Order: sequence, then C-alpha cells, then structure tokens
Amino acid sequence: MAADNDVLSKDPDWWRQAVIYQIYPRSFADADGDGLGDLKGITSRVPYLASLGIDAVWLSPFYPSELADGGYDVAHYREVDPKLGTLEHFDELIAALHAVGIRMFVDIVPNHSSDQHEWFQAALAAGPGSPERERYIFRKGLGEHGELPPSDWPSHFGPTAWDRLPDGDWYLHLFAPEQPDFNWDHPEVREDFLTTLRFWSDRGVDGFRIDVAHALTKDLTEPLRSKAAFIDFDNPLTGDDVLFDRNEVHDIYRSWREVFNEYDPPRVAVAEAYVRAERRMLYARPDSLGQAFNFDLLVSPWQVETYRTVITDNVLLAEGVGASSTWVLSNHDKVRHASRLALPPGDDGTRWVDSDGHDPEIDRDLGLRRARAATLLMLALPGSSYIYQGEELGLHEVADLPAEALQDPIFKRTGELHKGRDGCRVPLPWTTSGPSFGFGTAAPHLPQPSWFGASSVEAEDGAEGSTLELYRTALRLRRQFATTEAFEWVASSPEVLLFRRGNGWHCITNFGTAAVALPEGTLLVTSGELDDGLLPTDTTAWVAVEEPSATS
Ligand code: GLC
Repeated sequence: MAADNDVLSKDPDWWRQAVIYQIYPRSFADADGDGLGDLKGITSRVPYLASLGIDAVWLSPFYPSELADGGYDVAHYREVDPKLGTLEHFDELIAALHAVGIRMFVDIVPNHSSDQHEWFQAALAAGPGSPERERYIFRKGLGEHGELPPSDWPSHFGPTAWDRLPDGDWYLHLFAPEQPDFNWDHPEVREDFLTTLRFWSDRGVDGFRIDVAHALTKDLTEPLRSKAAFIDFDNPLTGDDVLFDRNEVHDIYRSWREVFNEYDPPRVAVAEAYVRAERRMLYARPDSLGQAFNFDLLVSPWQVETYRTVITDNVLLAEGVGASSTWVLSNHDKVRHASRLALPPGDDGTRWVDSDGHDPEIDRDLGLRRARAATLLMLALPGSSYIYQGEELGLHEVADLPAEALQDPIFKRTGELHKGRDGCRVPLPWTTSGPSFGFGTAAPHLPQPSWFGASSVEAEDGAEGSTLELYRTALRLRRQFATTEAFEWVASSPEVLLFRRGNGWHCITNFGTAAVALPEGTLLVTSGELDDGLLPTDTTAWVAVEEPSATS
C-alpha cells in the first residue's frame, strides 16, 4: 500500500529535520507471549506510533542473537531472530509503517559479530593460521608460551579485549568475548556488508544507524601499538589512533554511500561515533554517512551554559559539513533522562551502588520536570531528534533491578560495580494494570516495577498535562513550524536560553530559580505550568512571535 502523504515523498532531504523514535524490539511489545518483545508486537502498535507524529522508527537489532549484548551480538545479518519473528513479519511491519507515513531505520553492527556467526564458528573449527581466521583478528600471545594477551588493549566492557582459545590463539573483542571484532582489511568482510545494506534497502528500509562506526579499521601492524585506555576526549584524535576513528574508515563509508545512492530516494545513515565533535562531523559528510549522533546533550548536566555551548557548537559543526545536527536525550545505553537530570553532580547513575552502598536517591518530580523542559527545548532545535521508547511517557530509570535480573554484560565484567544498561530497557507499560502492564501475557524478560502502571500509555493517553500528550502536541507543532533550518539566539538573561527558528517560532527555557517573562506572542505549548503568566524554573515554552512582514 503506497502512503498518500509527503513524508514518504522522494525528497532526498526528508531526514534533515526528522524525528526518529528508537525501538528496542525486545522491550516494546510482546505479541507471542514469551516475555520478549517481537516484530508482530511492534506492528500491533503502529497506530500508537502514528499517533505520536514521528517521521521514522529506528529498530535496535532484531537479528538472530544469543543476546550476550542485548542483540548487538549478531549471528546473521540478513535474518530475523526467530524469537522475534520472521522476515515476513518484518515485511508486514515496514508496510504498516510506510502506510501511515513512518519510515524505518535499522541498526547495522559492523565492528563485530556474534561468536555464533557462521564465519566465527568456521574460524574456530579451522584452527590457527587458517584463512577462516583472517576475517577476524586472531593473534599469537606474548610471553614465553604465548600466555599473555597480544597487546594491552582494553574492552569497553572491561577488562581486556583479548580472549584465548584452547588452541592457543587469542582473538580480539572490543566489547564482550561473545562479540569478536571483524578484520576490515579483509575484502569478504567489506563485500558482505554491502550485500547486507542492499538486502535491507531492497526490503524498503529507509535508513541505517551504524553501530560503533568509528572502530572498524584498526592499526594491526606488528608489533601492535599500545593503547591502555579508551578515548581521551581532552586529546583530539588525529586519525592515527590504534583502534578508533582512523582516517581510512571513511573509505568504507564512501563505498556505502555509493550503495545508498543506488536508491530513490537515497538511503540515509547516522553514525554512532564516540569521538570529539569535530572528528564526529567527518562521518556526517555527504559522501560518508551523512549524519552523526551528537550525544552531547545525553551526557550534559542540566546547566544553562553547557546547553548553550552544546547547541551553538553543534549547529555550526553540522552546517560546516552540509549536514543537519542530531540531538539525543535518552537511548538504550544511558540512564533515562527523567532520572539522569536529577542525579547529584558527578553521578551518572551507572554504578550499582554509590560509595555508601545504596542506589542514589533522586527527586523524581524534579527529574521529570527537567526532562520535559529538555525535551521541549530539543524538539525546537534545527536538525533531527532521536527519542527513545518510553521517554514520551516520562519513564524513569528502573534503577533497582535485582542483581539476578541483570542481563547487561557490563555488570559481570566490571565485577558487579557497574549495573549496566538494563534499567532503561525494561519492557514498556501499555496499561495501568494487568500482567506485564499490557506488554504481553507472560512475565517480561526484565521485571517491571509497580510504579510503571501510573506511567503507562493507558494512564497518559488523552490525559491533560501528561508527558505523552506533551510529546504529541510538540511534534504536531514542530511539523507546522520546522519548515526551515533557521536558528538564531535571541538576547536574554544569563539563566535563560531563548532562540528563534523562523516563522516566528521562539523557544525559551528557564534554568534559573526565579520565574521570567515570556516573549510577547501566542503561547504554543509549555513543558510545565506557568506561574502567574511567568515561566518558572526548569520549564520550556514555545511562543509564536509575530514577525514584521516583509512589505511593511
Ligand atoms: C553500541 C550500542 C551498544 C552496544 C555496543 C556494542 O554502543 O549502542 O548497546 O553494546 O555498541 O555493539
């Protein structure tokens, strides 16, 4: 069924100001009653997605996986995990989304596969020195008997990036041991990913989110260079780091761009590249991936100067390469922003317990208030906004999951010091009560807290002042106003951010303690109640200010 609307037009620039909703498939909706979300579950919720007013969804990995890292350990790149459905279910989902004008991004995980991938299994079977091992990164160990890892490289999930096999070889995994890194110097690896991009593009996928896009090419010349710590954001990389952001990675993306441009409209992509902002923009060049995630707000404290700098810098940086910026406040890797923005300074909420031995107490009302203000601010910025399932309900992090429920490899691999990312991946509450709050019929794969019902879709749907209705209103207004990428700061007191977006659209956020006056004009929406006509602390408002007409 072809959609009769301009969202699915052939406009090659549709992505520039899109709102993309991230779905973590295992935790969205469970149609087959096994406690794990699935593709049919997502299809059954397409009317809900349409009611939000988003432009696209991005599906985190739904490929066959042993779930050693929440699906980012992919055993087959051109299949659907049987636990989540079939390729037919995928086709049904994309057709249902396209029919209501919503596009689809899928996640591509090119740095590593699962250890269950047929190539890795073949490498294990074929033994040391075999050509099968060349698609991954196998090395002899150091020390008299090869008993020491080949280098000091750490894993993101701690501690070392090397694991030894019984046959004596070591292999590289920058993440979990179940996620062996590909050797991107190998032509078959390169070719296979082009096949994967075409496979999903042919099925109608509109865009790709590229996982750890900066890690693919490594300096593997012997002796391996030392790198005992990951990226130091104070030291800009130069393109010659051992493991990350090497200049030649862009050769790969240039070849991907050629594939994207075989389609009409061209397929789009966004890089997940945790590097300094200037380097990140290399991935956003039009002959590379076209856009790159800007995670600056995702890691920023709620401070006016920080927000001002992040916004100014990123708008300019994106312009500099002809891209539009991206904005993210929550995703599947970070503490939900309703909780994060209320954490004490210096605490990012990732530790299992604080130094006193308990989970940090947060002021949940304060967190939600700030989260709503931050969201409304973000949605007024030029460029694309990525929102993460459940943030539209104002969901808090489930910070107190019991240790035995935790799935994230970070928990075990950090000696249970860091609890990992499960707290933002708990299955969504759809109803106020009932088994798994409407997620499915079985116990969900991560336990939901009792307070989830009050933040469910059912509780918030149509409820005045709810966070769900705030998102819907904001997205509707954004569609109306965001017709240009114009952005300009307007002079304001230091505790306030005020900017203009063209069409008279103004956004004002009050980070200070005293309430402030709104610009004169028509009030469109606020993230919280006004105080006697004034904008109180931690609140954002959109105002349409009449602009002088060109002829007067
Ligand atoms: C990305 C994903 C994260 C995953 C990692 C390894 O950072 O967002 O969830 O663990 O890559 O694939």
